[in-house]
Amino acid sequence: MATSVLCCRAFALTMACLLLAVPSLVAQDPSSLSLQYYSKTCPNVEHIVRTEMECAVRADTRNAALMLRLHFHDCFVEGCDGSVLLDDTATMIGEKQADQNVNSLKGFELVDKIKEKLEAECPGAVSCADLLAIAARDAVVLVGGPYWDVPVGRLDAKKASLDLANRDIPTAQQGLLTLISKFWEKGLDATDMVALVGSHTIGFARCENFRDRIYGDFEMTSKYNPASQTYLSKLKEICPLDGGDNNISAMDSHTSAIFDNAYYETLIKGEGLLNSDQEMWSSVVGYSTADTVNKYWADPAAFFKQFSDSMVKMGNITNPAGGEVRKNCRFVNT
Ligand code: HEM
Repeated sequence: MATSVLCCRAFALTMACLLLAVPSLVAQDPSSLSLQYYSKTCPNVEHIVRTEMECAVRADTRNAALMLRLHFHDCFVEGCDGSVLLDDTATMIGEKQADQNVNSLKGFELVDKIKEKLEAECPGAVSCADLLAIAARDAVVLVGGPYWDVPVGRLDAKKASLDLANRDIPTAQQGLLTLISKFWEKGLDATDMVALVGSHTIGFARCENFRDRIYGDFEMTSKYNPASQTYLSKLKEICPLDGGDNNISAMDSHTSAIFDNAYYETLIKGEGLLNSDQEMWSSVVGYSTADTVNKYWADPAAFFKQFSDSMVKMGNITNPAGGEVRKNCRFVNT
């Protein structure tokens, strides 16, 4: 603990960030994202986020999964605009209360911590949406995954949308065609989807999200293989038919703290933890997604390349309504 606190304070910033006067609400065009966006206003932004992420992931590798999922849930609701980070107010119930987020999405304190560091060095410069995009990339790298350059310049939304979060974020119970269409609506194709869902190589799911699966077709998809049956018995201990809704299990049962391609092997063995995971391989309409799963298991470099490209593509979904650079990621500026 002491080491982690110390190392979080240990970075030395060599250049002062300039204060950028950002209009209170400006429109957002995806082409406005660039790699140089903060070169004058916060040249150390990447270093600041990276330092905090290193500390957080060293303290607990789960933090990598939390940040990656936050970015995904941000981007799927009216673009990557930090809307997922907004707290409820007297007049607005935010996305944190959405079915897929409540009791599930975590990492908000880590976001606050990174934001504090950014505000200390570059007040009013770096958006919460960009913070998430950079932190998600660092999260992946820090647990062994690929690096990609993150285009930046996103703006933070002035409002959240509970209804759109409930509508647009995919769920574990949805079938392949619904999942494909949910990604399609965001400009992402089935290949992007199979690559991006490879994120489940890290992190955990709660029993309430995999109960249907383990008491459903798990035995059939894993072909009653004795090793799979042993794994299934363990899952049923963690997740009984009644109760234990918040008990957790890794989605990649072999290397849940390492970003690798082992998740795809679990699908090929028919041992995907979520119904939605297994759909990528076992759905009767999923010839092309099954081929992609095979490819990423056979060729980790191909998976890393497509994952990086698809993360940039997902990260480039902007909110055309534009926004501001929030001072505190939990609240719009007053
Ligand atoms: C087919 C689409 C997807 C569905 C249905 C889905 C569903 C889920 C569910 C149900 C969980 C467990 C949540 C809980 O039990 O509390 C989860 C966890 C996770 N998801 Fe997804 N997901 C999808 C795609 C993605 C994508 C595209 C990413 C990132 C780019 C992602 C990243 C993660 C991560 C890292 C976790 C682990 C979080 C943790 O450890 O707390 N998922 N997902």
